[in-house]
Amino acid sequence: MACVPGLLQVESLLPQIAKERLKRLETRTAKIGVIGLGYVGLPLSMLLSEAGFQVTGFDIDEKKVNDLEAGRSYIFRIPQTEIQHARHLGFKATTEFSNVSEQDAIIMCVPTPLTEHREPDLSYVESTTRSVAPWVREGQLIVLESTTYPGTTEELMIPILEAENLSGLKVQSKGVPAEHGVFYVAFSPEREDPGNNTVARRDIPKVVGGHEEIATELAAVLYEGIFTRSVRVSSTRVAEMTKLLENIYRSVNIALVNELKLLSLRMGVDIWEVIDAAATKPFGFHPFYPGPGLGGHCIPIDPFYLSWKAKEYDFNTRFIELAGEVNESMPAHVVEYVAKGLNQQKKAMNGSRILMLGMAYKKDIDDLRESPSLKVIELLRDQGAEVLYNDPYFQAVGRGRRYNLNMTCTSLDDLEQYDCVLIMTDHSDYDYKEIVDKARLVVDSRNATKGIQSFKIVRC
Ligand SMILES: NC(=O)c1ccc[n+]([C@@H]2O[C@H](COP(=O)([O-])OP(=O)(O)OC[C@H]3O[C@@H](n4cnc5c(N)ncnc54)[C@H](O)[C@@H]3O)[C@@H](O)[C@H]2O)c1
Repeated sequence: MACVPGLLQVESLLPQIAKERLKRLETRTAKIGVIGLGYVGLPLSMLLSEAGFQVTGFDIDEKKVNDLEAGRSYIFRIPQTEIQHARHLGFKATTEFSNVSEQDAIIMCVPTPLTEHREPDLSYVESTTRSVAPWVREGQLIVLESTTYPGTTEELMIPILEAENLSGLKVQSKGVPAEHGVFYVAFSPEREDPGNNTVARRDIPKVVGGHEEIATELAAVLYEGIFTRSVRVSSTRVAEMTKLLENIYRSVNIALVNELKLLSLRMGVDIWEVIDAAATKPFGFHPFYPGPGLGGHCIPIDPFYLSWKAKEYDFNTRFIELAGEVNESMPAHVVEYVAKGLNQQKKAMNGSRILMLGMAYKKDIDDLRESPSLKVIELLRDQGAEVLYNDPYFQAVGRGRRYNLNMTCTSLDDLEQYDCVLIMTDHSDYDYKEIVDKARLVVDSRNATKGIQSFKIVRC
């Protein structure tokens, strides 16, 4: 369903350079370059390759490029065979950005973290744009997928692409389509939910917003080659804001249930039972679940892209700030309950041995970015506890952006040797009944022990 009616439905009005691109995109004979081969870019490359496009992946990380060229995967949920199949179909990976000029379309999927001062760090988007700019060709489509504040595509990307390309090209502006001398720019947010298998990836509609109509149409047709449906919106800003609304909605609702969990614990009410009961309402309620804190590359970070941008408009995004405050207090709440559990057994935190189950920020995935487990380890250690961990997805945890833990995965043997087993991630691999049976004390931050009755369990 198109939100933007168009000029472009009359193909004859398109300039020749756009018509040629459109044809190649429709027939999937186009060459597509994907820049940033991480959690977003690599699966996207696989989808495009499977659909028949000639895909080249670009990354500055030589190890990733070498792995892919050798047919190896570095992302748990992408099997090696999938990389090898894509290689067979023509997928290649490179660190050489001059190859950008051979592509019909470029999709950028690079990180958009926060700085130490919790401000948007657009250095990756900026440096990628600078690497791409010299090689931009007439009629090429450039799409940004990285989550960011409204205005990034137009205020940051387009000026660099125009100033630094070697052919003196300009972005196609709104209004009369140019026959020559232009390239096209769009924004299309990634909506993947790692570990969620309820919706097939291709059935997640893809929102696309171009700088003008031709870019919107080219990007929509490109994505319709791999997704069931594109949702065309009227601008890059609308597309950028759509992604932020989705993530702020999650952050605020998770904060709400986290706060209600704190109250419910005091009132002796089981919040998970409450949520399950409320979720039986067939309209007007969507369940969100409390936890030990936010993790991942999206929810803990993206809302602050908007609150930062809002300041430019003298606007205070109170919901975002409040949700951030509540969610960020959850790791300390977990640690408080570990202390309570130990206290019940007449033990101090100082000197206790604690086995943490789960490093990943959510169940059944191999991603520990912004994981609350990292913060909880720091807080437990601050109070003198000795912390070990088990996670079937991480044999070792080394240096991250903020932590340098240098820990290796501990086996689940002899659980009775620990003063406390702390459930941080409810991975499906764990046998929770057995864990409760063997452990001396279990602190459960995920309701993973639902249905198990034991005086040893402290739910928090
Ligand atoms: N991971 C998710 O589930 C998810 C979901 C929705 C949106 N997003 C958004 O998608 C974007 C990418 O996230 P990700 O999880 O794939 O990140 P990632 O860290 O897994 O991957 C990013 C890749 O970009 C590469 N890179 C960095 N700078 C580069 C440059 N100048 N040129 C080429 N490559 C470069 C890195 O080496 C890395 O391989 C972010 O904006 C993120 O917020 C992620």
